[in-house]
Amino acid sequence: MHARREEASRPAWDSDQLDSPIPPEVEAAYFDEALDSWVLSRHEDVLAAFRSSTLAPTGPRSEKTSTPEDEGALLKMREETLDALSPTQLRAWRERLMPFVHTLVQDLPEGQGVDLLAEYARPACLALAAIVTGIELGEAERLQDVAQAVSAAAAEPYDPILRSEAKLANAQLRPCFHAGPETLRDSGFVALSHTMPRLLGNAWYALLQHPQEWSLLHLQPDLVEQAIEESLRYAGLTRVLFRRATEDIDLGGCPVRRGDRIVLRIIAANRDPERFAHPNLFDSSRREAGQLALGAGPHSCVGASLIRMAAIAITRPLVERFAMGTVMEAVSWHGGSGFRSPVSLRVLLQGSSHQEQRAFEGVVTTIRE
Ligand code: HEM
Repeated sequence: MHARREEASRPAWDSDQLDSPIPPEVEAAYFDEALDSWVLSRHEDVLAAFRSSTLAPTGPRSEKTSTPEDEGALLKMREETLDALSPTQLRAWRERLMPFVHTLVQDLPEGQGVDLLAEYARPACLALAAIVTGIELGEAERLQDVAQAVSAAAAEPYDPILRSEAKLANAQLRPCFHAGPETLRDSGFVALSHTMPRLLGNAWYALLQHPQEWSLLHLQPDLVEQAIEESLRYAGLTRVLFRRATEDIDLGGCPVRRGDRIVLRIIAANRDPERFAHPNLFDSSRREAGQLALGAGPHSCVGASLIRMAAIAITRPLVERFAMGTVMEAVSWHGGSGFRSPVSLRVLLQGSSHQEQRAFEGVVTTIRE
């Protein structure tokens, strides 16, 4: 019995939704007739696919396979991006970002409702996008609306209308960026200004569902780095990735033929009990590495160090200042088979004094009992 999909024609499984009452189902590799693709969800199988030199990245609809020239250009692009994301450069960007982040976090109200995405994640990520791509904040604010169309198409790659809107938006964005390697121009701007707040939305949703984890980070902010890694595993954004076989290959016991398409269920692989103990628990102190939210192997996300720096830099001041966050209203979600994340996160934030008060009340209740 294969896990149920939201729509038979799209590779998006009900159980990989972050708010699903049932956890993602991990299954043996199989061929799916409706998708005309092999489907992998075991961590071991997905990792082998990432590492395989006979599987090339492809899109959900694309029939294209890469040529040796494409591969050469890709390698050059990876090298240029990794050079541009040196530890010194990341530190310099972080230093420019932090005063802005601290002002935003100080302005978040205590004890009254606030949308963490609108008031904190999005402005912080937009500032970072402006810093990294070398444009003025005012220009970034203007381009943010244009970039929205590109992000929406990445979130639902099966929608032809979103795809054509994204094409127009890309053409508008491209001439607005001039500095740095290509990956840190218009596509980097979209990733930082739109995908990054979505990633934080999922991470913080997971934390808000686990108040003891939020409190732990408040008391031990040095754990934030580990907590971000755990949020990528438990609440990662990318639902599926695609590969095409360039040669016949045996994959997870399946006879994959040259030209076959393969769907990698990233969210399921990150909850595989064979790889992670108690996979459906969010545990900031987890030490097991190997989450696949940013890919792995030769095509892993080349912006991973930047994403980690940003996620830590923006999350840490939030949990340092507030001891607790409580979701105030039902969360609605946007996106589709590519990404899915909260539209808004309306929460009540409370500082340490409130937590101490609660702890005190807990002690009093225990004594009375
Ligand atoms: C903000 C959240 C981001 C997420 C969730 C994300 C996720 C991913 C994932 C899962 C892959 C692997 C694709 C595959 O294996 O088929 C990937 C690849 C890639 N990412 Fe990111 N990414 C993000 C931001 C960025 C940023 C800021 C950059 C800018 C440098 C970037 C540049 C790339 C590139 C160039 C690749 C293709 C690498 C290759 O094929 O060799 N990403 N990303």
